Amino acid sequence: MPGALAAASLLLAIPASAATPSPGAPGIGDPYYPYYGNGGYDVSHYDLRLRYQPRTDELEGTATIQARTTQDLSSFDLDFLLDVSEVRVNGAKAAFTHSQQHELVVTPKTPLAEGTTATVVVRYRGVPSTKSAYGFTAWHRTPDGAVAADEPESAWWWFPSNDHPSDKATYDVSVAVPDGTQAISNGTLQSTVSKLGWTRYSWRQNKPQATYLATLALGRFDITTGTSEGGVPVINAYSKDLGDNDGAARASVERTGEIVDWLSGYFGPYPFSSAGGYVPNTTTGYALETQTRVYYSPKQFANGSNTSVVVHELAHQWYGDDVSLKRWKDIWINEGFARYAQWLWSEHEGESTTQELADYVYDSHPAGDAFWTVRPGDPGPDGQFDIAVYDRGALAIQALRDKVGDQAFFAVLKGWPRDHAYGNASVTDFRRYAERVSGKKLTALFDTWLFQPVKPGASAARAASL
Ligand code: ARG
Ligand code: ZN
Repeated sequence: MPGALAAASLLLAIPASAATPSPGAPGIGDPYYPYYGNGGYDVSHYDLRLRYQPRTDELEGTATIQARTTQDLSSFDLDFLLDVSEVRVNGAKAAFTHSQQHELVVTPKTPLAEGTTATVVVRYRGVPSTKSAYGFTAWHRTPDGAVAADEPESAWWWFPSNDHPSDKATYDVSVAVPDGTQAISNGTLQSTVSKLGWTRYSWRQNKPQATYLATLALGRFDITTGTSEGGVPVINAYSKDLGDNDGAARASVERTGEIVDWLSGYFGPYPFSSAGGYVPNTTTGYALETQTRVYYSPKQFANGSNTSVVVHELAHQWYGDDVSLKRWKDIWINEGFARYAQWLWSEHEGESTTQELADYVYDSHPAGDAFWTVRPGDPGPDGQFDIAVYDRGALAIQALRDKVGDQAFFAVLKGWPRDHAYGNASVTDFRRYAERVSGKKLTALFDTWLFQPVKPGASAARAASL
């Protein structure tokens, strides 16, 4: 008996030692990007109070992060590139060091217990345009300021974060800029306050937002406001320096309200407190679905109006922003559906129909074309934004529509954002959802159209739609 008692107390000792706090992982576990995001905690809110000088590109301020621990933590990482002067965890000064390329390792004075909330304050400053990681920068200088907008990463250049779409949070972004400069960010503009030659713009995103969908634009902008017929507030901003592209940019982006209302017919109610876009004077070529405030390059409007890109980025507000990917390999749910929305718009505008566009994609890439080697359902980190993820991805959606019929297809299109609102989901989750709504088994169809590195043959195409 004494022996049994001793064994019992030994057993009791084991959970205590198993609970020894350990460092949070330097990555959240995304197979494409092992160091993106971090382990051990989940952020609920970012409060960024910043100041920016466009002349020198100096950014300084304080990030206050509210998080909840998911393990006992001796230390944890944030993803960040700028120079940090102080970190406090729950009020106490914490040790910190930069490691890898973009890991800020924070060691609190006392370890954090699992399941508790932590307030992390990071004071920092830096010249973001001087920082790069993996030979790349997401901080784009303009003649009058700068823009943070890129995918899959852009936060490292302006705020410390758990940089992965699977950890979404709300945001307050407040930036002071010299009078005459504007600061544009996500959500609604809560206030602008001017004093001592500086104007502070305070923006609020009150719905969960992935870190790569947070954006900041600093420069001289003309801001327009309105409300869509369906009641969605719209805030757009145009660089005062768009030159010849100014007219076409406005002719496209000012249709945001109309397009949001039209998309609501397919995807259900608009999920956020405002919609809109901004067109800074950047030289990059892409657009990005930054939540509620889409980033457009002026190049999108170089040939005249381009409502198609507006439709694409606004479709992402449901497919990508409201329902976000679980892992970066799930990118097809973002890009396939945003492309498909462009096809629906084309048909709506009296141009090509979705079926004509699907046939065109199928016919214009012969078997053996590199296009078919890209697997939209798992394209690899280098293939994430390959044109095949978009076009072959939309073709897969047309194949799904052909197989399940319009009634089930449009029920899936609208039901998906409703049933996964503000959450995260994978391609497998999508297949199961479509199977549940349609009552059809879809493994073969998904395999053929999204996962095989070959052109679906006419017979495969027929088999998949049986
Ligand atoms: N999601 C963006 C779009 O299709 C693509 C961004 C590509 N990123 C990049 N750095 N080129 O709307
Ligand atoms: Zn897209």
